[in-house]
Amino acid sequence: MPNHPDVMDKLVSLAKRRGFIFQSSEIYGGTGSVWDYGPLGVELKKNLKDRWWHAMVRARNDIEGLDAAILMHPRVWEASGHVGGFVDPLVDCRNCKKRFRADDPRIKGTPGTPDAQCPACGMKGTLSEARLFNLMFKTFMGPVEDSASIVYLRPETAQGIYVNFLNVQQSTRQKIPFGIAQIGKAFRNEITPGNFIFRTREFEQMEMQFFVEPGSDMHWFEYWKQQRMEWHLGLGLAKERLQFHQHTKEELAHYARAAFDVQFDFGGTLGFQEIEGVHNRGDFDLTQHQKFSGKKLEYFDQPNNRRYVPYVVETSVGADRTTLAVLVNAYREEAVPGESEGRTVLRLDASLAPIKAGVFPLVKKDGMPEMAERIADDLRKSFPIFYDDSGAIGRRYRRQDEVGTPFGITIDGESLTNATVTVRDRDTLQQERVEAGQLKDFLTRKLGT
Ligand code: GAP
Repeated sequence: MPNHPDVMDKLVSLAKRRGFIFQSSEIYGGTGSVWDYGPLGVELKKNLKDRWWHAMVRARNDIEGLDAAILMHPRVWEASGHVGGFVDPLVDCRNCKKRFRADDPRIKGTPGTPDAQCPACGMKGTLSEARLFNLMFKTFMGPVEDSASIVYLRPETAQGIYVNFLNVQQSTRQKIPFGIAQIGKAFRNEITPGNFIFRTREFEQMEMQFFVEPGSDMHWFEYWKQQRMEWHLGLGLAKERLQFHQHTKEELAHYARAAFDVQFDFGGTLGFQEIEGVHNRGDFDLTQHQKFSGKKLEYFDQPNNRRYVPYVVETSVGADRTTLAVLVNAYREEAVPGESEGRTVLRLDASLAPIKAGVFPLVKKDGMPEMAERIADDLRKSFPIFYDDSGAIGRRYRRQDEVGTPFGITIDGESLTNATVTVRDRDTLQQERVEAGQLKDFLTRKLGT
């Protein structure tokens, strides 16, 4: 039995209805496993990325930021092992033209033999033998579309950091141990994408490469494992929904000496899945780039008058996959005491919520809308605010609950006489009266901004 219910279909529907996430090119029938972030989704994902950037770059003096280009020299991907090794074995059906991973459990029999049956059209003997298929997207640079002008859309952001290792180290005069962090798009032509934004063909990674002295790598590996788990807990992800998974020998990537995934329980049959990888990559990447570029990528340890190729401990987390974890974790359907209708609520951590407060005139008369609009305009200088004067007040509260807005500010008859308003807490449903002039301080305190 799954530990948590499957809320994916409900989330997909809420995400579309309320403007979090839309299917890419929907009016043309959609692009496979590519998604667009709407007005609320872009705020949610930006807040998540800001939390990461703050924790990994701004709040530390031993990590520098970087924004490397998506298009890189094609030799980068030979050096990294992606041209030769970033492959999935695939089989094609000659009848229905569908393509499957060779290890697809729905395939009966051995692909390439007469008894193998296509899981889509049901024909026997039409599945090809397994062939290796590279997951990198290719495109052409320059005016001539020949093999000499092939470039790749990067399948991970990490390589942009390795090739800039000395640029960053020398320009910032950082001493080992230190790290380089970046947030950016990555592309993979995934064969079995799906589960909404869990596995997509275009996604964002937040990666940090920490350069250390060989021999101290396992110490830093343990350090970063703990730090990253703390970060996920700080987002409000439930403790019982998070766990580490250690990679077995068979699971270890070609570059890794040791690896742990941070897994989150997405509920239903998906269950625990990786949201972040923490990898001890040794000196694999820098050594490979030295070999392929012919340039030395060594660190000069001045006090000991010694040069060496540092080891790398990597933390690599998906911005989209973590956004999904945050949404799954926050989604609730609840009964409301004293009301016949229940509510859907996103119990998002306040720092991640796309809108921090809704502002509502109780009724649309007696000067309440004017006062409410003044308050909303004033607060909007400091926080994302949503003003809403349409429909019954209970309805308006519920519309904000559904998108995770932590506070509802209502301007009522009393507000006009004593300049106080009610503030409703999304989670406790408690209301308190606050002086209108104190609202900014009140929200700053509550939101911890
Ligand atoms: N540089 C190491 C690296 O890329 P990875 O385990 O392949 O490691 C790291 O990817 C993270 O990137 C994953 O934990 C996941 O959160 C995210 N990710 C990877 N592939 C993805 C995809 N197709 N769609 C969404 N997120 C993905």
